[in-house]
Amino acid sequence: MGRTVILGAGELGGRVARLRAAAGDRVVGHTRSAARHPALIADGVEARTGLPDDRAADDRLLIALPGADRQMMAVAALRNRPPPARVVFVSSTGYYGAPRGDVDEDTPPGTSDRAQRNAAAERAFAAWAGDRGVIVRLGGLYRPGRGPLSALAKSKRVPPGPPDKTLALIHYDDAAAATAAALVHPDPRPVYLAVTPPCPLRRDFYLAATVILGLDLPGFDRPRGGPPAVYDVRRLRSDLLAEPMHPRWQGALVPGPAS
Ligand SMILES: NC(=O)c1ccc[n+]([C@@H]2O[C@H](COP(=O)([O-])OP(=O)(O)OC[C@H]3O[C@@H](n4cnc5c(N)ncnc54)[C@H](OP(=O)(O)O)[C@@H]3O)[C@@H](O)[C@H]2O)c1
Repeated sequence: MGRTVILGAGELGGRVARLRAAAGDRVVGHTRSAARHPALIADGVEARTGLPDDRAADDRLLIALPGADRQMMAVAALRNRPPPARVVFVSSTGYYGAPRGDVDEDTPPGTSDRAQRNAAAERAFAAWAGDRGVIVRLGGLYRPGRGPLSALAKSKRVPPGPPDKTLALIHYDDAAAATAAALVHPDPRPVYLAVTPPCPLRRDFYLAATVILGLDLPGFDRPRGGPPAVYDVRRLRSDLLAEPMHPRWQGALVPGPAS
């Protein structure tokens, strides 16, 4: 069983913490503030603020802070100590920028600033963690009340972008199940793409979303043309998540309480 440390026990990390606590691990969840601590403690997770201290000997570590820059900072803070036996790093399909056609773990990073920041954070992590490290590249996360539908409900504006770009999506529960599996898989690959295909085009998602929310129908940038991205998740399916619990992207159109 052993000890699992979750750096960033928020929506995703908190779910992973609960899964590992239910499996019998001693789990320590780190957050920035104490707001989530009562809920974590109620589920058997030890709650702390800030980064893990130097003396902690972890069997497993998950790094799930929001955004590539904070992920990079976490690696910088940890790199003077040896990596634990298994360390999982949450990255994003933002790594690919605006890909076309087939996309898998070996597809190179995009050229946008965001893609390059994701790629730099992954490189820094891999240099520290070596063969103890696993990168999980997650698509856009959703659950009722959180994700692109809720973002649109708040902003009332469809984010700029072409109509024919694929919107990579995965439900929080599936992302957490895959990430928790990466913490304990006996022989994982170095990188997994974690998305739930088939994914919608932005046009299909945002047309439906504006109708559901009673907003004006969206305008889009010019179509990009060329084949939209198709995400290949065979490695995810074979090693970490055989069957998604939420296989249909339309689940991302379910409104929920804002949070
Ligand atoms: N959202 C997406 O669509 C998406 C897509 C791809 C990848 N990801 C990645 O998925 C991961 C988790 O996302 P999420 O939705 O679970 O985010 P979240 O709910 O905001 O959780 C992030 C957690 O990190 C904690 N945190 C932030 N800064 C910290 C610090 N300096 N020290 C300790 N803890 C700190 C936060 O603490 P508080 O609870 O106190 O705020 C929170 O608990 C992130 O790595 C994100 O980049 C997200």
